[in-house]
Amino acid sequence: MSANSENFENWIRSGFVEMNTELENLYFAQERRENVDGVGDKLKAQIRDEGHDFVVRLQAEGNTDEGFDNAFDLLGDLGLYLAALRRHELTNPAREEKSPFPEASALGLHIAASIGMAPRFATAHLATRNAAKDGLQKSFTTLKDEFLFLDYNTRSIFSFMRAADALTRILPLGVSHPVAHTLLEDAANALKDVIKYNEMLYDYLDTDRFFYSVRPYYKPYRVGRHEYRGANAGDFSGINEIDLLLGLCQANDPYYAQLLVDKMLFMTPEDQASLRDCMRRRSLLAQFLDIAPGSSHEPWFKRNAAAFLEVCRLHGQTASQHHDRLVTTFIEEPSTALGGDKLAQVTASGPPLQVLMRALETLRDMRLAANRTDIKTSYKDIEALKAFVED
Ligand code: HEM
Repeated sequence: MSANSENFENWIRSGFVEMNTELENLYFAQERRENVDGVGDKLKAQIRDEGHDFVVRLQAEGNTDEGFDNAFDLLGDLGLYLAALRRHELTNPAREEKSPFPEASALGLHIAASIGMAPRFATAHLATRNAAKDGLQKSFTTLKDEFLFLDYNTRSIFSFMRAADALTRILPLGVSHPVAHTLLEDAANALKDVIKYNEMLYDYLDTDRFFYSVRPYYKPYRVGRHEYRGANAGDFSGINEIDLLLGLCQANDPYYAQLLVDKMLFMTPEDQASLRDCMRRRSLLAQFLDIAPGSSHEPWFKRNAAAFLEVCRLHGQTASQHHDRLVTTFIEEPSTALGGDKLAQVTASGPPLQVLMRALETLRDMRLAANRTDIKTSYKDIEALKAFVED
């Protein structure tokens, strides 16, 4: 790591976090907690100017040739800085045609193009690749609720990854293999962990602190001319690998394919590669249905297909939990307290809240294989497989 990147990183882990925390406490102490105008202006300018000094030196250095990990970490540090400027309203894509921070944009675009990711911070920077130093990981603030959010997201993401890994290992064995049953059980246990961690997050997280002091760092912002949507805990390939391998979502479905394309550059290159690989596989659901007519009375079929259906059920349960518990409690309900212009800025991904809620509902129902006629779900195929198992 060059001295310039190291200095920037040290600042991101110290002064930057302290100033954001101080600002959050000022905003939160107000009657209208969503207001940031005219509050802590000196601190805001200090974040902007101190960060700018590091950025200018890094841009002049122009050195991204220090290996993927360094470039990736630098992109994350820069992204955290820009996300904070966005959070404190020192930039807002709705009122600008290009980023008011040309040096930071140039640096971000340079690194992003060289490593093949979007030029902003991604979930992996704060979750699965967030290195701790002396027991402390990177964050925007030192607020307890931010650490809760980040750490439970990370636990949940790793559990989804374990489920995806177990399902992928079934592919070379085939669904009739005795060990496929063991792998399906592994996947089920990993999904039970997702459910457990999401439930803990639901129990521990303070709604107002999350909504007013953590979530605002996940807003879209511009880098150069383009606006990039906010990061979300779903920006890793494992969840989509599970969708596709189970056969609950299809890569040739226009809605789902669009979602995959849109999230590609928000994932690490290795996740991008494993998602691409997964998109060309035949799903386990299709494989069970292929052999069901001739084999459904075999004990191995009933055992493996029942274990498979249990994994599908649990995956659907994680989706319901995300939508009906986490999104509803921590975003939809507190949003009702906000006025028009602030509400329009609430979602991380950009679209208005109602549009976002509908999109997340569609995903939930695909994962639940719900009986819907307006969208394509695997309801009929799952019911057909259940009938073979019960027959
Ligand atoms: C996407 C909210 C925790 C997985 C989203 C989106 C929202 C949201 C609003 C839509 C995109 C956006 O605007 O950012 C929340 C809230 C959480 C939470 C309020 C907790 C307080 C988690 C956790 C996971 C997760 C722990 C587990 C990995 C996902 C996934 C997506 C997503 C996979 C992408 C859409 C999808 O494929 O379903 N989340 N989320 N979220 N979140 Fe969460």
